[in-house]
Amino acid sequence: MNVGVVGLGAMGAGIAQLSIEACVDTVGREVSRELGERAQTRIAHFLTRKVEKGQIEAGARDEALGRLTLTTELSDLADCDLVIEAIVEDLGPKQELFAELERICRPDTVLATNTSALSVTEIASAVSTPERVVGMHFFNPAPLMRLVEIVRAELTPDAAFDAAYALGEKLGKHPIRCHDTPGFVVNRVLIPLLNDCVRVLDESRVTPEDLDAGMKFGAGWPMGPCELLDLVGLDVHVHASEALYEKTREPRMAAPPRLVAMLNAGLLGRKSGRGFYTYES
Ligand code: CAA
Repeated sequence: MNVGVVGLGAMGAGIAQLSIEACVDTVGREVSRELGERAQTRIAHFLTRKVEKGQIEAGARDEALGRLTLTTELSDLADCDLVIEAIVEDLGPKQELFAELERICRPDTVLATNTSALSVTEIASAVSTPERVVGMHFFNPAPLMRLVEIVRAELTPDAAFDAAYALGEKLGKHPIRCHDTPGFVVNRVLIPLLNDCVRVLDESRVTPEDLDAGMKFGAGWPMGPCELLDLVGLDVHVHASEALYEKTREPRMAAPPRLVAMLNAGLLGRKSGRGFYTYES
């Protein structure tokens, strides 16, 4: 089996890592060689950490890394059985990419999107064979989070859906089935919940440290909401909030002003070195 991953940012690199670790030949496409190599270095780092911790052998790491082929050309995805798109969360570029993939890939190639807040059906509307489009929504950090949501768009038939589900299992994930509704399952709950958490920061004048401690030690969260927002990226979260607010008109979906102000100030979280917390590069 051959898998293609388009876009090797944090999510795409994580998905490509899962794929090569699952013994799947993987073609990773980035727009420049530098970005592709940056993702490759990131993957090699995490696999080396696994070797250092005795979780895998050095030989297995090297074999896994050998399964990743980097490219800047979409045409190198022509022979893939399934392509997962993980590019910028904007409808236009995604639709353009899917139209291009439809031209390039075999007719039986399943085209999956990792979108978190856009409509899979709308993305699929850009191609003349929307029945090959499905959602595969991974969670950040993809190599560590066990879930993948397999999203059925309006015209996704069982064949494409089952292929995506089977790949999710092969990648060691726990797939769940859902339909193409705003936020699917987890973000439908998590986005307004995180927004509530930020509103509580202002309402109860608790510090980010204490709010995080509250949710970790009082509610059993693995990390606090402010830590999680910094991990996800404030740009990603605000964008997802806006997309869900636009679709549902539920006030809790709208990004709180504090988050928008932080975004405007460039405080994006871990990726920019500063969000609710400050990070060493
Ligand atoms: N990719 C690959 N490997 C990674 C990684 C990454 N991004 N980040 C860490 N690792 C590896 C590291 O090698 C690390 O080991 P070392 O520190 O020894 O090098 C190893 O994983 C374990 O990392 P941690 O010690 O940090 O692991 P942890 O036990 O503290 O758990 C966690 C980390 C899984 C992230 C946990 O804190 C957690 O579950 N947090 C909640 C995350 C969450 O809710 N994610 C969903 C976000 S919402 C979303 O993604 C939806 C959306 O559409 C935006």
